[in-house]
Amino acid sequence: MNGSTMAIGERTDAVDVTSLIETDRVHGRLYTDPAVFEQEMAHIFYGGWVFVGHDSEIPDVGQYVRRTLGREEVLMVRRRDGSVGVMSNRCAHRGNLVCIKNQGKERYLTCPYHGWVYDLEGKLRDVPYPDGFAKDKSEFTLRALRSESYRGFVFASFDKSVPPLVDHLGKATILIDRACEMSPTGRIRLTAGWSKQRFYANWKMLPENDTDGYHVNDVHASFAEAIDSQYDAAVMGNETAIRSETKDWGNGHTELDFSPTYDAPLKWLNTTPQRFPEYTRSMLAAYGEAKGNRILRNGPPHAVIFPNLFLGEMNIVIFQPVNVNECVQWHTPLLLDGVPDDLNGRIIRNSEAAMGPSAFLLADDSVISERQQIALRDRADWLDISRGLNRERVDDLGVIVGHVTDEGTNRAFWQHYRKVMTADTRAGIRPVARSA
Ligand code: FES
Ligand SMILES: [Fe+2]
Repeated sequence: MNGSTMAIGERTDAVDVTSLIETDRVHGRLYTDPAVFEQEMAHIFYGGWVFVGHDSEIPDVGQYVRRTLGREEVLMVRRRDGSVGVMSNRCAHRGNLVCIKNQGKERYLTCPYHGWVYDLEGKLRDVPYPDGFAKDKSEFTLRALRSESYRGFVFASFDKSVPPLVDHLGKATILIDRACEMSPTGRIRLTAGWSKQRFYANWKMLPENDTDGYHVNDVHASFAEAIDSQYDAAVMGNETAIRSETKDWGNGHTELDFSPTYDAPLKWLNTTPQRFPEYTRSMLAAYGEAKGNRILRNGPPHAVIFPNLFLGEMNIVIFQPVNVNECVQWHTPLLLDGVPDDLNGRIIRNSEAAMGPSAFLLADDSVISERQQIALRDRADWLDISRGLNRERVDDLGVIVGHVTDEGTNRAFWQHYRKVMTADTRAGIRPVARSA
């Protein structure tokens, strides 16, 4: 099947991925085969929940942001009733992009091609030269996606019959809670703007890499040499001395939990409460001594929400697949509501140092991912992910826990991936009619 002609909702099941994923190894073809990529679009990006954005990005009625869901252009819009909707950014006339700015604020959305006008709910309200258009306007709408949010994190799906978002998030709602609870008001803001970085690598290398604690010593050696950071103790020390852990939260959601390493508040920000006394006081007032101190010591999650959201401590990251050999990473600082500006300022500076165009961490990770793609491109083979199978345990929450350098996170990702990539076509997903 030619991928460029496949329609949303259509499932090809051309590749039997069960033969390519075992407990302790995965086949490199999963990163290089265009047919696998098409299957991912249908099963994962069009048939499941995908992160789109945060409602703090569009506080006012009429505000919208332009996003990509799989390869499809979508808009996240603040509607007239104050709710957030996600709809296709494809004109119902002849398919042009309706919004071409990355963000904006409008009372109506007007297609730049022939001027069809839609309201914020996606209904066609007006067409230029109306005498020649005899059809019923109500038949023409910007396609609405199913969307739900959890604590302002908006997810969408082209599949109207997908089970509720909380089923997909499962226990991982705790991870989103932990990100929000870094603020004394429990609210975060993604308002600093997004940076994007193109990777000439398969998109799955990003979620895999982001909760891979094994590569840090090697790939980020220059960072460790240049900067004394919290990561020295959390993930770069001696194998027996490091107390950080991998966590498999189920449904492909994975975490590197650095908190067992932190022995004082605000180490996760590589600073101290003395530098931010007002923040420290407000957190204790908001959450009480016990929980407030626990949050201040443990810090934010470092976790991937399957398939495309990375809660990267004080950054939020989106993985955007482009084709089997290419993806784009979006990132923005996780700003906190109800805190002094100097704290958000530090968060922005740290984000620039980790993820900016001249930063340390993202540049390292992009190079290592691209090398992996080069090495696999013509003769993919089995890749080992067995590390730590001999020392996993299950905690009280049913979370599978390993040493931070283990590959339990990779196994968690792949086992869920195998499940969704082989799931039967559900009722309600019907192939969308294609023209020749
Ligand atoms: S394609 Fe949008 S108005 Fe014609
Ligand atoms: Fe890395």
